[in-house]
Amino acid sequence: MNIRLNAALNDPTLATPALVIDFEDITHTYARFGHAFPGGHVYYAMKANANPQVVKHIADLGGGFEIASMAELQLALDTGASGDRIICSNPIKHPQFIARMQDVGVYAMVIDSTFELEKVAHYAPGARIYVRLAVDNTGSVLPLAGKFGVDAATAVELCDQARALGLQPIGTMFHVGSQCLSTANWVNAIRAAADVWRVAAEHGHHFHFLDLGGGYPAGHYHTPSIPTIEDIGAEVMAAVEAYIPKRDDLMLVMEPGRGMVGESGRLLSAVFGKAQRGEETWLYLDAGVFNGLMETYEGFPPVVSHLDDAALVRPLRKYTLAGPSCDSCDVIARDVLLPEVHIGDRLVFFDAGAYTNEYAAAFNGFPIPAFVPLLPGEQEERILETVYDFTPV
Ligand SMILES: Cc1ncc(COP(=O)(O)O)c(C=O)c1O
Repeated sequence: MNIRLNAALNDPTLATPALVIDFEDITHTYARFGHAFPGGHVYYAMKANANPQVVKHIADLGGGFEIASMAELQLALDTGASGDRIICSNPIKHPQFIARMQDVGVYAMVIDSTFELEKVAHYAPGARIYVRLAVDNTGSVLPLAGKFGVDAATAVELCDQARALGLQPIGTMFHVGSQCLSTANWVNAIRAAADVWRVAAEHGHHFHFLDLGGGYPAGHYHTPSIPTIEDIGAEVMAAVEAYIPKRDDLMLVMEPGRGMVGESGRLLSAVFGKAQRGEETWLYLDAGVFNGLMETYEGFPPVVSHLDDAALVRPLRKYTLAGPSCDSCDVIARDVLLPEVHIGDRLVFFDAGAYTNEYAAAFNGFPIPAFVPLLPGEQEERILETVYDFTPV
């Protein structure tokens, strides 16, 4: 349990809703990725939490960035990161964005269609490209399959077309689905990538870029059974060793979003209303689907508790948690068991460091959670000693 975070949340002057982010914890997580994936590089998927302080912190640790848009590119550059520490894994890109990435020397960008290839060849002649593979997302809480990705045969065809258009095909990426609970997804995806690498080599392509995407889950404090960064790293490194053709110049890339920042944040929200509607007891919170808890609407189960430990002795009740807006879809979760909740109580949502304020809007006039950074203290130097070097190929 994160003692620093809990102490900050218990500050009685902290107004709600508030998103408290522990920067030391991010440092620690970054170091864990380095140790679990020796020789690999973190390209943080900043869509998970694009707060400029968070992004700068990860840049200062040595991380690279996975970006999807012009605004994310600018944010990465504002940290001082050079283009070679930036990649773009968004398969469908705006032409001006492609041109700007070329101007600033972004290392490589993904494609998964002939149309996109032609666009990239036009707006970023000679650019490095990698292909997004469609892989099994079963076992992830928020699957991403369907919208993007191609099969093995198409992937090789696209590389042939890319070469003919003067682009440089360098490898593959995949995404196993967000909050992926099965390490087998990574192993199977690496095997699928290895098949593409082998056939591509027969077509004369020399791949070196193996991008494992995101999907690393958060929530270990509450669900110890979910795979840790270390569990995934061990299986991934073994699969890379077993299946990917040996390369001295192998560039192993991780794009963690949730896994990088999810466990470093807590969302504090106050209960300001209560109603009995038939069998259901409703609690109305000052954070809801529109202002911080959008992921619960997408099916992500919230982990929520009383802030005040003294409340934990109250009898358990079943609640429907709703946000503050007048929209009927602003329902955070149903059948949530909590020690009895009174108006004025403060609730804490755990593992809220990712995809919270990124999705938030002040709909209906209800504010998005205030960003409360818990900045590095004296522990930082000690943790930093264990942080690995970032040396892009
Ligand atoms: C291309 C890409 N990379 C990485 C991520 C980060 O995923 P996660 O937060 O599950 O690690 C996403 C999330 O949607 C993505 O689209």
